[in-house]
Amino acid sequence: MVNYQEIYNNRKVFGGEPDRLESIEYSKYTWAPAMLQRMKDNHWLPEEVPLMDKDKSSFRELPEHMKRAFELNLARVYFTDGTQITNLGENLIPHLTANCLKQIAQRQEAEERNHTDSYLYIAMNVLDDPISIQTRYLWDEELQEVLKLLDRTLGLLFHGLNKFEQRAVQIHINRILEGLIFYWNFAFFYKLNYDTKKFSGTTTQISYINKDEKTHLDFWSLVFHEHCLERNVDKDKIKPFIENITKDAVWYESAFAHYSNNNECGFTNTEISQFIEYRADKLLIDIGYEPIYQASNPFDWFNQYAPEHSDVQKVISTFTDKSTNYQHKIITPNDLKGKFTW
Ligand SMILES: [Fe+2]
Ligand SMILES: [Fe+2]
Repeated sequence: MVNYQEIYNNRKVFGGEPDRLESIEYSKYTWAPAMLQRMKDNHWLPEEVPLMDKDKSSFRELPEHMKRAFELNLARVYFTDGTQITNLGENLIPHLTANCLKQIAQRQEAEERNHTDSYLYIAMNVLDDPISIQTRYLWDEELQEVLKLLDRTLGLLFHGLNKFEQRAVQIHINRILEGLIFYWNFAFFYKLNYDTKKFSGTTTQISYINKDEKTHLDFWSLVFHEHCLERNVDKDKIKPFIENITKDAVWYESAFAHYSNNNECGFTNTEISQFIEYRADKLLIDIGYEPIYQASNPFDWFNQYAPEHSDVQKVISTFTDKSTNYQHKIITPNDLKGKFTW
């Protein structure tokens, strides 16, 4: 006789026994059903978002340096979200063994695809040469830098860490893609609309994407905690890896941001770097590490487009708060009673 509750309770984020029980309702990860529901509630499609005639004529009125920055930032997010789809599909999802988490990650993968559709939709409706955002990475080396970050990182991963420690660092790399990379690009579009009030269609698309990225970041922050708990990952041991890759990401992101801003789009390089450092600190704090930069957000207008979710922050803090003891939910026979028909 199969003991279903044992299967649910024995699940592991990585390296567990695979099973075919797809229900997310019975999850030892207490937050997982609400996370999937939040994703379903946030469902949207690019063509449903009101766009875009005004944005197109507004784009034509922009000075050349702003057109360049608009196209460059749009190409960047398009290319990087494509990279994110590959990272999820090849490096993370195949290795998740808890079905309930895999289900959320697969939904995320579909959302990332929706994001590339959205960027393309903006390009088709605003730019005179929409295909350019797809092909720009072929000749623009600055756009390819994000790949170097990933390659460097994967090379760094495997020195002296066991396989579960490696997975923890790998989760953090994904968190960098959810919560640090892209943020300069988002800031650029928000400020453009904030200053001109002429790009509401583009900005609405971006804020929907940003909302999803926040959900993804919350998800992977929680997965990091669960995985470390299940496998007794020594967080002090992996700390240098986490910090080094975070610093690398700040360096790469700042370099791209300075390149696209080019000192002519209304930002200073100092405040751009501070914003990126502020994002990096948040990534570290949410998984229980000290901030490196002690940076505050220099863009007080940013969060009006993408507010934090205080409910999830509360769950995250149960992991990082030393005085509370997070417990997995124990699935009991009673939980499953009458739920199965076979
Ligand atoms: Fe995305
Ligand atoms: Fe994402």
